[in-house]
Amino acid sequence: MTTVLQNREALRAEIGKVAEVAGYLWKKGWAERNGGNITVNITEHVDEEMRGMKAIAGPFPIGKQLPHLEECWFYCKGTGKRMRDLARDPMANGSIIRICPGCSSYEIVADSPVMPTSELPSHLAVHDYLLVKGSPYRASLHTHPIELVALTHSRYWLEKDNATRMLWSMIPETKAFCPRGLGIVPYMLPSSVELADATIRTIDEDYDVVMWEKHGVFAVDVDIMDAFDQVDVLNKAAQIYIAGKAMGFEPEGMTSAQMKEMSVAFHLPK
Ligand code: 13P
Ligand code: ZN
Repeated sequence: MTTVLQNREALRAEIGKVAEVAGYLWKKGWAERNGGNITVNITEHVDEEMRGMKAIAGPFPIGKQLPHLEECWFYCKGTGKRMRDLARDPMANGSIIRICPGCSSYEIVADSPVMPTSELPSHLAVHDYLLVKGSPYRASLHTHPIELVALTHSRYWLEKDNATRMLWSMIPETKAFCPRGLGIVPYMLPSSVELADATIRTIDEDYDVVMWEKHGVFAVDVDIMDAFDQVDVLNKAAQIYIAGKAMGFEPEGMTSAQMKEMSVAFHLPK
């Protein structure tokens, strides 16, 4: 099977990272069935020859107009596709799309007409926002990490920054590697434009990782490996908290002074 990745080493490497992360998501138990999705803004890896390629499907509406995505290209997990399958074969379980002129629809260019994830409105709206902000972030990840999702079944942990403070205090690395904490988006219908809008509003409060109540997380970073790492350190902290509870006590957490000392030493934001 011919693939657009042939002789495009940088693009192949980027999509290789997506496949690697998809395997981690499955092994962690965060990707039941088709759970979760990944998109990567690959525009910088698109050459003249690719730009000249004909679409193989579409145009399809995005559901939103996203003016800063003009001439942008994305790799997207396919809707209904499994992360464990994507890990083996990213181009059969995802596709490369380009945004059409007018920025309210897209077409599929390669390798085969795999329809993108149902969460495309949230992913593309976030990429549009990142470009407006001049952010170097090019990857977005939605996944269903067990312990973090469990936290959102409690009103207390849904209150702004209660979960962030607890998670940061479990182990110093959490704040070091997820320095903006965990934003909270109240429950909304999966794949809806409302969920996309609320995700942007919350990322704009200066979070890289936001929690979709009783559903999953949505994380952004420079590449998909870094987006995964942020979710991984947060979920590890949630597991430590739960382990303490299971041993029959309320975990103490690092003190405010210890947290402050660490933030200064590591030059962390907030
Ligand atoms: P897709 O299979 O459409 O990507 O949906 C998975 C999911 O997690 C929806 O929130
Ligand atoms: Zn989901």
